[in-house]
Amino acid sequence: MYPILEKRLLAEGIWLMKILAPRVARSARPGQFVIVRTDACGERIPLTISDFDPEEGSVTIVTQAIGVSTRKICALGAGDRLADFAGPLGRPSEFVAEPIEALRQRRYIFIAGGVGTAPVYPQVKWLHEHGVEADVIIGAKTRDMLIYTDEMRAVASHLHIATDDGSEGFKGLVTQLLEKLIAEGARYDECVAIGPMIMMKFVALTTRKYDLKTTVSLNALMVDGTGMCGACRVTVAGSTRFTCVEGPEFDGHEVDFDEAMRRQGMYRTQEQRAAAIEAERAAGHVCKIGLDK
Ligand code: NAD
Ligand code: FES
Repeated sequence: MYPILEKRLLAEGIWLMKILAPRVARSARPGQFVIVRTDACGERIPLTISDFDPEEGSVTIVTQAIGVSTRKICALGAGDRLADFAGPLGRPSEFVAEPIEALRQRRYIFIAGGVGTAPVYPQVKWLHEHGVEADVIIGAKTRDMLIYTDEMRAVASHLHIATDDGSEGFKGLVTQLLEKLIAEGARYDECVAIGPMIMMKFVALTTRKYDLKTTVSLNALMVDGTGMCGACRVTVAGSTRFTCVEGPEFDGHEVDFDEAMRRQGMYRTQEQRAAAIEAERAAGHVCKIGLDK
């Protein structure tokens, strides 16, 4: 069992939790993820690691309460325990294995969208600790939905903010802000984008115009997380790849985003049905909706 050391609300429906998991914290690297279960019968939820502290033995995850299982995670409090916390899973970000001197010659631009801002943080922090320049764009619908801005400001070379409604920073999408920065003379050698699949698709289409190498982190559906079931398969450069063991990071210019988005929505009916059952139970009604229909 994995105790929750701390729980903090970051924005409406978005919770940060620090979990005591010393073995995971000792081996975690930026870019990796964990699979969490609240109880022995719970759904397995993959979550990209948002921070880790080997000395404290803690790993931080950020969860948005959108489905039945993520709501179950978010309903737990400090002192409660998670049944499973498997990880670190997946491959670390490519730059972790590169020579530091080569990285210091490069300038990175990170594009963080919504909840995807949290997993960008350990990457920018790692680069900052190794003396590598990294600018960051954080995009959110509104000012209230921005997360990790203070933490990111402490490690980014420059932090740029975009909100869809203009309530903070640039008014518009992250892709529009990126184009503006480039038009004003900013030069980048590599882009990393993490956020909703649609954002990553359009970031990749934008950076292709500038021949800017782009890495994306795919949050595919997962079951075992060990390369056995094929649930997380995506098409990259025309080949089938398993996100859990070969990713989650891939070359954004080679990902078939339309297929990835279709696969992400494959169980929407079952998710809606599970949410309806949960709502019936919460209201104290006898539930007549079957999950198997
Ligand atoms: P959101 O919908 O608020 O979008 C965040 C920003 O992305 C927007 O402010 C905008 O600037 C940009 N964006 C959105 N659509 C765009 C488009 N068509 N073109 C260009 N830019 C666009 O984000 P949210 O509601 O926080 O997103 C939640 C999603 O992020 C969930 O689907 C979740 O699964 C995913 N997520 C992904 C990861 C990952 O590792 N890839 C991690 C956490 C969350
Ligand atoms: Fe089963 Fe990746 S989750 S192969």
